Amino acid sequence: MAKVTLPAPSVISSSPRIKDISNFCCSQSFPPIMASNMKEKLFNLVVSNVVSNAVNVGLRLNLFKVLAQISSKDAPILPSELAKAAGCKERYIREWCNCLSCGGILEVNEQEKFWIAEENIEDLTNDTFELVTNGMMITLIQPLDKLVSCFKEDGPYGLDYCEFTEFQSFMSQLSKALHEKHVVPDMLPAVGNGIVEKLEAGGIRGLDVGCGNGFHSSLLAEQYPKASFVGLDIGEEAIKIAKQRTKKSGELFNNLEFVECDAGNMPATWTDSFDLVLIFDACHDQCRPDLCIQEIHRVLKPGAVFAMVEVTGTSNVFTDRQSMGPLAALMYGCSMFHCLPVGSNRPDALCMGAMWGQRRAVELLNKCGFEYVQVVETPYFPINIMYLAVKN
Ligand SMILES: C[S@@+](CC[C@H](N)C(=O)[O-])C[C@H]1O[C@@H](n2cnc3c(N)ncnc32)[C@H](O)[C@@H]1O
Repeated sequence: MAKVTLPAPSVISSSPRIKDISNFCCSQSFPPIMASNMKEKLFNLVVSNVVSNAVNVGLRLNLFKVLAQISSKDAPILPSELAKAAGCKERYIREWCNCLSCGGILEVNEQEKFWIAEENIEDLTNDTFELVTNGMMITLIQPLDKLVSCFKEDGPYGLDYCEFTEFQSFMSQLSKALHEKHVVPDMLPAVGNGIVEKLEAGGIRGLDVGCGNGFHSSLLAEQYPKASFVGLDIGEEAIKIAKQRTKKSGELFNNLEFVECDAGNMPATWTDSFDLVLIFDACHDQCRPDLCIQEIHRVLKPGAVFAMVEVTGTSNVFTDRQSMGPLAALMYGCSMFHCLPVGSNRPDALCMGAMWGQRRAVELLNKCGFEYVQVVETPYFPINIMYLAVKN
């Protein structure tokens, strides 16, 4: 692989400005934060929480898509009709419609008939980041009692991944919503170093570290059949599900394998063997991300690229709040409920958390062998930034 020239050590090549995320977070109209007094804020938080969970129920039962198909402003329907079409009980569906119409998600008329406003159909029937994340909190608060005890001085260090039984399926749904449309056309060209041409020509080997249940690895293996890919994850269940992945046609992959392994201790035989190593949102929540990065440095061929897609942030909560608005609250919360406790779960853990940000990420990459780090903005990934580094 040809050598790449990247900026001087520790330099963040693009300014640490955070991308314009106004499309994603509507910071000017976010009710809990914008309310004028604390009582109003607190009340709005409770309402948002309830409505958000009701949205998630609708997602799980496919109610938005069914409602969009069988109703409109000119032809609103009774809950009984939605219940019948969705295979549900009328009484439950009626309460769901009542809650979501009062919560500003569905429309209702005086005859207590319901529909989705034309302008909201797209947002409520496509698996976008904004819709899918309504399923996040129920997934993350599963071990809430234990999390609370982790806060205490004499409590446990953290939580184990397996205490979040729905996490992997939620995460792959989220990754699909966030990344599916942009990994191939936008992100890989931004990796540069001729990587797209090399993947297309084939004969090269890519590694996806912390692959979860294999969403990105299988996307790449399908797109680049002449290249081969390895997905690595510490989670037994994640790898079991990943191994069941097939091509969209149902055919088995012949260029993709999954390995259950600690990223901080990869096989000895992998030294200097990968042409590309990728991470998607899977460094900050490791207990020892330093060992993982050192291992990545070892397994890359000299001159090969490491592309780490991670949660964006400035490493300073004050500037994160200013530049990211409510998205910062979402990501610090996500970190508090999940990323921090799973990344703190041993006595020698680095306890990074999702909002470790550019300064800490670049420092760690530098410390672990990657002298030159380029930070690339990824405006097509609403919560991410990409770090690029080449093994000398
Ligand atoms: C937030 S998930 C991201 C999963 C996947 N990359 C995605 O974006 O859908 C982080 C993943 O890192 C994995 N992980 C955590 N610590 C690890 C370690 N020490 N070695 C390998 N994988 C690890 C977890 O099991 C989890 O699947």
